Amino acid sequence: MTRPAFLAAFAVVAALGSAAMAQTRPYAPGAHNIELPADWQQRFIRYTTVDRPDRKIIRNMYVNPEAYAALRAGQPLPYGTLAIMADQRARVDAAGNVLLDGNGRLIPEPAFIAIAAQQKERGWGEGYGPELRNGEWEYARFSPANGTRVEGPLTACFTCHLQARAQQDFSFSTWDYANRSR
Ligand code: HEC
Repeated sequence: MTRPAFLAAFAVVAALGSAAMAQTRPYAPGAHNIELPADWQQRFIRYTTVDRPDRKIIRNMYVNPEAYAALRAGQPLPYGTLAIMADQRARVDAAGNVLLDGNGRLIPEPAFIAIAAQQKERGWGEGYGPELRNGEWEYARFSPANGTRVEGPLTACFTCHLQARAQQDFSFSTWDYANRSR
C-alpha cells in the first residue's frame, strides 16, 4: 500500500471505530456527560443576573439559544437545555461591605470565580437513586480560569435542586424566567 492509501484506510477505520463507540457506549451517570462549549460566552443568552449580597456575589445565568427559544411557561424545560451559572465577586468597600450602583444592584468584579452547569438530555438520570435523581438532569462544575471540569462531589447540587424545585423541573431561575409574564 502506498503511504497516502494507507493513511486514508487508517482514517476510515478510525472514523468507523469512533462512530461505533459513540453509538454503543451506554449512558453512565456523572458530570462527564456535560461539556462546557468553548464559545458559550459568545453564544449563550444571559437571561438574568441574581444578586446575592449574603454571599457577596453576583450570579450570571446563561442558557443555550436553542433552549432559550423553546422555553414555554408551564412546560418542562426542553431537552438540550444547558444552563450555566457564572459567579462574580461583588465589589466591596474598605470595611468589606458590598457597594451598590445607582439602581441598587451589586457591582461585579470582572472575573468569573465559579461556573456551575446543569444539562437535561433524554434518557439522562438513569442510575441515580430516588434520593438524588433530578429527572433527566446532570450537574457539573467548571474552572473559571480555563473551562476544564472541576472534579468533586455533586451530591449537594442534586439534593438541593431536588428538595426545592422538583415541581419546577429541578430548575430555579430558568424555570422562573420561562414562567414570568413578559
Ligand atoms: C443549597 C441549595 C443549592 C445547592 C447545594 C446548589 N444549588 Fe444550584 N441553585 C440554587 C439556587 C437557589 C439557584 C438560583 C440562584 C440563586 O438564588 O442563587 C441555583 C441555580 C443554579 C443554576 C442556574 C440555573 C437555575 O436553575 O437557576 C445552575 C446551573 C445550578 N444552580 C447548578 C448547580 C450545581 C452544579 C450545583 C453543585 C455544584 C448546585 N447548583 C448546588 C440552589 C442550590
